[in-house]
Amino acid sequence: MEITYRRFVPSEGDALINFLTSDTWPFHSSVVIDRDRIRQWMSDGVYDSEENRTFWIVAGDNVVGLIRLMDLGDETPLFDLRIRSQWRGKGFGGQTLIWITRYLFDEFPRIRRIEGTTRQDNVAMRRTFQRCGYAKEAHYRDAWAGAEGAVHDAVGYAILRRDWEAGTVTTPEWHDEHIVASHDQLASD
Ligand SMILES: CC(C)(COP(=O)(O)OP(=O)(O)OC[C@H]1O[C@@H](n2cnc3c(N)ncnc32)[C@H](O)[C@@H]1OP(=O)(O)O)[C@@H](O)C(=O)NCCC(=O)NCCS
Repeated sequence: MEITYRRFVPSEGDALINFLTSDTWPFHSSVVIDRDRIRQWMSDGVYDSEENRTFWIVAGDNVVGLIRLMDLGDETPLFDLRIRSQWRGKGFGGQTLIWITRYLFDEFPRIRRIEGTTRQDNVAMRRTFQRCGYAKEAHYRDAWAGAEGAVHDAVGYAILRRDWEAGTVTTPEWHDEHIVASHDQLASD
C-alpha cells in the first residue's frame, strides 16, 4: 500500500486530539493522553513551530500514524513515531523511519545525525531502528518511569549522515578505556 506523509497544520487540532486520545501508547510515558494536555502542547507549538514539525502517515484512505520531528534548529533532531494499534506490525513503522531519515537529511543540510530513544523492552521500535540503519549508542539504566511505579532502562539509537550516504552502519568504540589508561601512564612517566 502506498504511504504518503502529509504535514499537519494547526487547523487540524481536533483531528490530532482524536488521533492521540483514541488509542493507547504502551511505550510512552503517558499510555493514555489527556485532551487538555494536547491542547496545551498545541498552543506551546509542540506540533508546529520553528523547532517542531508533525506529519500524518496516510495509507490509502487511512491515517495510520503520526510523526513528530523535534529540535529542528539543532544539529541532532529527535523524533516521535506512533502507528495506530490496528496498523502496527504491518511494515508502516519501518517504511516511515526510512522516510523520516531521508526527509531530515535532505531538508536540513546541517544535520549530522538523527537520534531516537525508546524503552529497552520496546522490541518493535528497536527492530525498526536496526533495520533502518540506526546504531545503538546509549543505554540508560533506570531512566524511564513506567506505569504504577515501574522503572525501565532506556536505549538510544542514532544514524550518522555519513553512514546514511555511504549505506554503512558504524558503531561507537565501546571499549575505549585504553584512552584513560594511556593518560594515567603518561601522568606517571
Ligand atoms: C514501534 C512502531 C513505530 C513500529 O512500527 P510497526 O509498523 O509496528 O513496525 P513494522 O511492521 O514496520 O516492523 C518493524 C520491525 O519490527 C518488528 N516488529 C514489529 N512489531 C513487533 C512486535 N510487536 N514485537 C517484535 N517485533 C516486532 C518487525 O518484525 C520488523 O522487524 P524486521 O524488519 O526485522 O522483521 C509501532 O509499533 C508503534 O507505533 N508502536 C507504539 C508507539 C511506539 O512505541 N513508538 C515508539 C516510540 S519511541
